Amino acid sequence: MTESCTLIIFGATGNLAQRKLLPALYHLERADLLPPEMRIVCSGRKAHSQSDWLAYVQQVLEQHAREPLSGDDTDRFAARMVYHQGDLADPATFAGMATLLNDSNYPANRVFYVSLPPAVYGDVVEALDRQGMLEESDAWRRVVIEKPFGCDRESAQNLQRKLGRHLREDQTYRIDHYMGKAMVQNVLVSRFANLMFEPLWNRNYIDQVQITRTEQLGVGSRAGFYEGTGALRDMLQSHLMQLMALVAMEPPVSMDADELRDEKVKVLKTVRPIHHDAVHAQAYRAQYGAGRVDGEAVPAYLEEPGVDPHSVTETYAALRLYVDNWRWRGVPFYLRTGKRMAEARTMVAISFKQPPKHFFRTAHIERPPPNWLIMSIAPEESLRLEISVKEPGLAMKTRQIGLDAPFRCEHHAQTDAYEGLLMDLIEGDRSLFLRYDEVEWAWRIVDPVLGVWATERDFIPTHPAGQWEPEESYRIFDKAHHRWRHRLDPEP
Ligand code: BG6
Repeated sequence: MTESCTLIIFGATGNLAQRKLLPALYHLERADLLPPEMRIVCSGRKAHSQSDWLAYVQQVLEQHAREPLSGDDTDRFAARMVYHQGDLADPATFAGMATLLNDSNYPANRVFYVSLPPAVYGDVVEALDRQGMLEESDAWRRVVIEKPFGCDRESAQNLQRKLGRHLREDQTYRIDHYMGKAMVQNVLVSRFANLMFEPLWNRNYIDQVQITRTEQLGVGSRAGFYEGTGALRDMLQSHLMQLMALVAMEPPVSMDADELRDEKVKVLKTVRPIHHDAVHAQAYRAQYGAGRVDGEAVPAYLEEPGVDPHSVTETYAALRLYVDNWRWRGVPFYLRTGKRMAEARTMVAISFKQPPKHFFRTAHIERPPPNWLIMSIAPEESLRLEISVKEPGLAMKTRQIGLDAPFRCEHHAQTDAYEGLLMDLIEGDRSLFLRYDEVEWAWRIVDPVLGVWATERDFIPTHPAGQWEPEESYRIFDKAHHRWRHRLDPEP
């Protein structure tokens, strides 16, 4: 039985709470998974009476819940909620919250979810501690920190030092929502619950690995956050690096939190550092210009509200990395992400080496296509394997076919990454949350790139919104035949 707790959300009126946290909690309510006594305290700066707040939550859920709301569930959900107003720069806000939480109606176990701008993470935790709210004499206390954890290695170290004065590592839940995605977890299951991939999963058979997350959405209303962040920090240092660690890691001793994270850290530690002089050969950045997405005209990044008209913040970033260990040495891992691209897609695409001899070479094809294994995370949730077969007919010609295995059938319920992670949080399972050393090693990998880009403030290549990245990005490829794999189906 899951222990009861009080969940306190800082930044409850923010974008993440609206789009993800409140809907995820509501879906857990519907599925009857929240502990009956659990309370949810929503902290925000704006003044809201309790009834205004509940009306606001109702509106948020109508917009973001997967299914139409049901009266009983919404009533139960509303009964757990209380709004707490206050300016977080004012110590009285925390004193007021401490008084509220000491009321016996609020279960003593507490989760503080810090969904606020990264600059204030440390101050909020310090203020909680000053009011004795992290004291664990009677019950547990957990704090969730959203990404990005710092903006480079040094700032991550400083943040960690600050948090470490008030929190133990086992109380600190660094969230990366990619780890909560079912298909991301499926990377682990595909690898470690099936023996057939293991003999092939190494430098002898694999030619390249591409890890992609492209979006069609632009920066929207998030320029305040994005301008100082950019694609490399926002997506690549966190989500894509986690995916790479899952693809490249050795089998852990067990699936316990620390065993799993030990193996992920080993991958990140073995990534060959990018030398300052190699940044241009291994990294590429670009920004979206005006264009059309799904037939609709969309503005350039520089025309988005809140963006500096001279900004060189990258909305697209790609890296070539090498995991220099026994298994992977020499295999390029290409990681790329971009906003306002031709398609929205998240996938791990692995291509295999060519057979040593081509018996079935046709007149037209010098080099038959390689085998690909594609773990598609979104929009399709599937595994795809591409192999060469003989074409029907008398001639000995080959062609490539794809074997597709959807991961989800119609009867499987949809869940969002945040639902699983919120349950893990309440249950104290840290396996899918990041340990500090993972974050620090990931920063170590991207720091040289950030350093060089920070000095090149005059120019950034652009690509029209709604299109793939410029061909200039091919300069990061290790071999002449490497190309971006854009789609699940091979390019025509
Ligand atoms: C967030 C980034 O962490 O991930 C956003 O801050 C990005 O910029 C989002 O849009 C993408 O997540 P998903 O789950 O849609 O791939």
